[in-house]
Amino acid sequence: MIRVAVVGIGRMGGKHASNFCKGAVANAKLVAVCDTDAAVADAFGKKHAHVAVYTDFDKMLSDAKPDALVVATPHYSHSALAKKALEKGISVLVEKPITVTVKDAQSLIETAKAHPEAIFAIMYNQRSNCIYARAKKIIESGRLGDLQRASFTVTDWYRTQYYYNMGGWRASWSGEGGGTLINQCVHQLDILQWLLGMPERIVARCKTSGRNITTENDVTALFLYKDFDCVFTASTHELPGENRLVIVGSKGTLTITRHKAVCKFLRMDEKEVNARATRDYGNRADKKYTKKSMYYGLKGYLTDALYGQQCNILRDFVNAVEKKDRTLLRARGEEGLNALNIINAINMSAWKGCEVKVPVDPDEYEKMLAEKIESEKKIK
Ligand SMILES: NC(=O)c1ccc[n+]([C@@H]2O[C@H](COP(=O)([O-])OP(=O)(O)OC[C@H]3O[C@@H](n4cnc5c(N)ncnc54)[C@H](O)[C@@H]3O)[C@@H](O)[C@H]2O)c1
Repeated sequence: MIRVAVVGIGRMGGKHASNFCKGAVANAKLVAVCDTDAAVADAFGKKHAHVAVYTDFDKMLSDAKPDALVVATPHYSHSALAKKALEKGISVLVEKPITVTVKDAQSLIETAKAHPEAIFAIMYNQRSNCIYARAKKIIESGRLGDLQRASFTVTDWYRTQYYYNMGGWRASWSGEGGGTLINQCVHQLDILQWLLGMPERIVARCKTSGRNITTENDVTALFLYKDFDCVFTASTHELPGENRLVIVGSKGTLTITRHKAVCKFLRMDEKEVNARATRDYGNRADKKYTKKSMYYGLKGYLTDALYGQQCNILRDFVNAVEKKDRTLLRARGEEGLNALNIINAINMSAWKGCEVKVPVDPDEYEKMLAEKIESEKKIK
């Protein structure tokens, strides 16, 4: 039985803790939780008398001595809390994003590497959507041929001013380290890099639209890969919004809308279609050349509705800790660096008004973020 602790038992951490208490994660026992907000900690303690409750993180680690820790606090604290646990050989599952800056993430990853006895994982729950896993297999099998273009529209994370007015750390450079990119879209940016790899350069424009916040809630970015480009569009202020990933290869097109994927495979590579063509234009050849396949992820959708998609990652994590086998993880902690690199690059490109290289210069990003935080103080 793996003895688990959770630090930060707000909206997400509270759900993780409750899933452990409900027995939704086999072979795991929640032994302790910690939250610096005494009222939150007390409320949890009243509901779950068998779990030790702390407001002091160090005390929790030394008293409760958990085997594994889930970090579900605001972003800036992820690194320090995770490092303290890893240094004691405690396995860590960190909520997304890994941290706020590439430099901080690199330092956390170094700590994890220095403690191979501990499992280090990240909560990229969207990787458990079987449609994305299917897409990965299709791309890796070469069935789409040479990748030619992609686009990802993520405008379905609708957030109202009421949400932002709840206050706290959200949608500020000082509290959260960004807006829609680091909070919501980190999931899709991880999926994108998981499926297509990392872009070499990024050019982006970020805006704040229709909300009284200091960070971005509207993003248009172009990701430049070696042989193809990807347009990434995201917002949290439009309705109804959509979530659509389109990947075009020389042998087919894959369109994913959340739990459904439509693949139109060509019967031959487009180069061959072109070589054989005896007419000047005409996608009327479509039917002759294409074969359509549909995939649905409904089974996963229904199971996820019960405990939340995040519970899949909790289960993987506990399994990996129990078997001491990091290959059982859907996302290793260090993989958190990729989406963060993309996010830092989008921000940097928007701030500088020019194309930037990926990976970003970590020191330059730290400096620019510090300036953002300073100028935010003047607005507030
Ligand atoms: N995977 C997902 O789908 C998902 C969804 C929502 C949030 N999250 C992530 O979960 C994390 C927490 O988000 P949330 O929405 O639950 O925030 P929240 O504000 O509701 O909860 C955070 C809790 O952490 C506590 N806290 C803050 N600093 C602390 C510290 N140093 N030590 C102990 N407790 C501390 C706060 O008192 C609060 O109760 C963030 O990283 C967020 O991005 C992930």
